[in-house]
Amino acid sequence: MTQQGNSEILKVVNLKKYFRIGKDKRGPIYVRAVDGVSFNVKYGETLGLVGESGSGKSTIAYTVVGMYRPTSGQILFKNQNIGMEAVRRPLSLKKEIQIVFQDPGSSLNPRQTIEQILRLPLKLHTNTPKKQLKEKMIELLEKVELPADYLYKSPPSIGGGEKQMVAIARALAPNPSLIVLDEPTSALDVSVQAKIINKLMDLQKELNLTYLFITHDLSLMRNVANRIAIMYLGKICEVADAATFFEKPLHPYTQMLISSVPVVTEEEERLKPKKVVSIGEIPSPVNIPPGCSFHLRCPYKMPICSEVDPEMKEVAPEHIVRCHLFGKQASG
Ligand SMILES: Nc1ncnc2c1ncn2[C@@H]1O[C@H](COP(=O)(O)OP(=O)(O)O)[C@@H](O)[C@H]1O
Ligand code: SF4
Ligand SMILES: [Mg+2]
Repeated sequence: MTQQGNSEILKVVNLKKYFRIGKDKRGPIYVRAVDGVSFNVKYGETLGLVGESGSGKSTIAYTVVGMYRPTSGQILFKNQNIGMEAVRRPLSLKKEIQIVFQDPGSSLNPRQTIEQILRLPLKLHTNTPKKQLKEKMIELLEKVELPADYLYKSPPSIGGGEKQMVAIARALAPNPSLIVLDEPTSALDVSVQAKIINKLMDLQKELNLTYLFITHDLSLMRNVANRIAIMYLGKICEVADAATFFEKPLHPYTQMLISSVPVVTEEEERLKPKKVVSIGEIPSPVNIPPGCSFHLRCPYKMPICSEVDPEMKEVAPEHIVRCHLFGKQASG
């Protein structure tokens, strides 16, 4: 594993991505899909980025891989700011950061054979001699436990889990160091989800990969993520290592999420926070309320919460919380 200077492969600093969706008398109307997000991903780890639908997870994924240009903020990959290079990213950089999308049904071209799907990234990003391309494609299929004759099939003729394995093989083809997994199992049948997760975990070890693993399913992260970041309405509420996260969640929103995760053992039941019941609906990202964006739903709301947006505070080493309840304990 190459560690360049520090232990972070990816550092996202105050990232904003707004989409203009129209205008009214007061001017343009924006969806604040990602609204000042900072986090880092360390070499070789899995950072779980968890949030409900619409919280801005895919927008972060697409911005990190260069499909979107940030509205503002920085994306540092191996200490180099790559945010504004979106769209015109050099190939040498594109090859390093790959993505697996949520729905392999739409991310794989149904009119191509799997051979064509795998050939493109190999030709674009590696200098595999022409004669060895087929061998290399078979190797990629072996990595995801698909037989060599799958090269001649096309996506509509194989199962959903197999399609996602092909998408994973395609992401592996350029020999990347970071893979963004955008809800890689949520469009799949429950029966194949565990198989995909186990394969991803094995590949991570075998190939020294780093994962930014995006999901709406917090319970999935328990055995998968080293650290977890929770998103709500375009912002991060809490970041901690996975053990701390499940044992000592601090932010009212994460407590609410964890109190609704099913438990397996009595020990877990004992550790689980008391049921935190939220009130009301998630506001729209077009109309984010002032102050803490969770204040309309938070059972612990104080007067300051509807006026001042809390800052990220490190309340213990590597445990970061954005909530006025914890301001006084902050060390940095
Ligand atoms: N291209 C776009 N144009 C306008 N709004 C968008 C666009 N992409 C995402 N959004 C909006 O931004 C918010 C975050 O979306 P998304 O990042 O897809 O969330 P998630 O992946 O967490 O479900 C949503 O309100 C969504 O409707
Ligand atoms: S800042 Fe206030 S409203 Fe927001 S989560 Fe903390 S206590 Fe609740
Ligand atoms: Mg999404």
